[in-house]
Amino acid sequence: MNKERINAGEISKELLGQKVTVYGFVKKVRKLGGLTFVDLRDRSGIVQLVSKDETLVNKLRNEFVIEAKGEVALREVANPQLKTGEVEIILESVNILSEAKTTPLIIDDKTDALEDVRLKYRYLDLRRPIIQEKLKVRHQIKMSVHRYLDSLGFYEIETPILNLSTPEGARDYLVPSRLHHGSFYALPQSPQIFKQLLMIGGLEKYYQIARCFRDEDLRADRQPEFTQIDIEMSFVTQEEILTFIEKFIKNMFQDVLHLDIVTPFKRLTYKEAIDRYGSDKPDTRFAMEIKDLKEARHIDFAPFKQANYIRYIKVDGIAKETSRKVIDNDASTIHKFDKSATFVAMKYEDGHLTSSILKFMNEDNIKNIIEETSLKEGDVLFIAASHNYNRVSNGLGALRLSYGKKLGLIDENVYDILFIIDFPLFELAEDGSITSTHHPFTRPHDEDLKYLTNDPLKVRAYAYDLVINGQETCSGSMRIYRSDMQEQIFNILGLSKEEVKRRFGFFVDAFQYGTPPHAGMAFGLDRLTMLFTKTDNIRDVIAFPKNLSAVCPMSHAPSKVDEQQLKDLGIAVTDVEND
Ligand code: AMO
Repeated sequence: MNKERINAGEISKELLGQKVTVYGFVKKVRKLGGLTFVDLRDRSGIVQLVSKDETLVNKLRNEFVIEAKGEVALREVANPQLKTGEVEIILESVNILSEAKTTPLIIDDKTDALEDVRLKYRYLDLRRPIIQEKLKVRHQIKMSVHRYLDSLGFYEIETPILNLSTPEGARDYLVPSRLHHGSFYALPQSPQIFKQLLMIGGLEKYYQIARCFRDEDLRADRQPEFTQIDIEMSFVTQEEILTFIEKFIKNMFQDVLHLDIVTPFKRLTYKEAIDRYGSDKPDTRFAMEIKDLKEARHIDFAPFKQANYIRYIKVDGIAKETSRKVIDNDASTIHKFDKSATFVAMKYEDGHLTSSILKFMNEDNIKNIIEETSLKEGDVLFIAASHNYNRVSNGLGALRLSYGKKLGLIDENVYDILFIIDFPLFELAEDGSITSTHHPFTRPHDEDLKYLTNDPLKVRAYAYDLVINGQETCSGSMRIYRSDMQEQIFNILGLSKEEVKRRFGFFVDAFQYGTPPHAGMAFGLDRLTMLFTKTDNIRDVIAFPKNLSAVCPMSHAPSKVDEQQLKDLGIAVTDVEND
């Protein structure tokens, strides 16, 4: 490597008078009073090159890749916007290493290109410093994880990608077997089963920065292919695990952001989180808590009389702008979660309570509601009545969040970190069947074992989530470590003995040869990077992400394959989507 080679961003006054060589992309060329200025960009930053000699620079265009040599000098007029803004390089030679066509997007932090264009030309998008910075933070998080866990005696161990299905609740991505027609591998939704087998294998402390694959509806914080920091350990209590998570996250904030965060983290039980915020990943950076509206019981309004639960949020000072249209819109937010809920708004405006159900209310109702909710001039109550507690709370939780955002109540400069504990072991699926809230290997709370057979929905789990700024960042649990208990749980989940044997036989068998009590968790690396780089788009923190239709706009994956490939796999495609 050239001795004089210096990164563009590191050219400084200390190098004044020295000969240097820089490599990078031409960001901009401009002429001014007989001089030509060239901004050169590499990963470290930007430096200005300057030449009196036209012939040295007249072939240069944006995004050409060049080698430039010259002497570091002081600029006549410094540019305080730039790290290297006090200096420039007086060009002695320029070597064009490769030319570039006009790029389809502006290579700058500010670009007006649509996301699909950016993803189609992701290699150009990646040149933008704003994206490079995010990938740098992602790398720093990973390095912090490796250093920290290594120092505590964890081994990083890889687990198979070609797998049997793991029950994390999403659809599997399947890979057909060429050697065994009609059989498929499933890509791992997580390394869950393998990390537990590693504990049975006596490895005691495992971690892996693991790629996971889930075929589910995509959102701003979900990718079909994402990365977990996956951890498992033997012989630990839940309290030790929560302390471990606190120290791990504290170390990461310190390492990457140089921020000292406060431990212990706040804790909310799942029940408290639903009661107060209507969400198991509440954003507690603002209050606006959900409450039961007791006085509603005394209003002679049929939907209130029939409902089991009448809950509300109070939004301060928005009465004037809360039109019929706004209320209808808010109702539809509630109905996304609870189709049959009754939604009512009450406004306190010009000294009066107004509402579409005012005609059902007497003087006492009005007085008591104002008193119960401490309603002031300009405030609005959004009230929802329902027979389903969780659904109506979730709906109000979503409304709370949308008002929190809309009214700017969320302080974007803080990291609000909390544990949610005591999740229910089971929940009801859409079709009314019982499913695991976390996954079927989660240990039931000792105090609730008595309900396991007769009232399973009442059983709490040793399960915990870490929520940062309203985002589920980590999820984990203590695991079942006895085969009879594991079989009982499968049984409650409605899995027949044969199905258990077929899907998890090897796993249940393994428990019979001595199983250490164990527990673990997985952090979403992509989501942590989003939080650390303050973006709400997961695609910003992944080098080559898929779009919202699970397509890579650059390579066009997924794609049709050759007839011969299908033949080799013993596959006939019956339902083909047209291009
Ligand atoms: P869970 O399914 O909750 O638990 O996943 C753990 C964490 O992974 C992240 N995550 C995702 N990130 C981006 N895109 C997705 N589609 C996606 N799905 C999940 C979240 C989540 O908190 N095996 C268990 C963990 C354990 O019990 O140890 C598991 O996978 O941040």
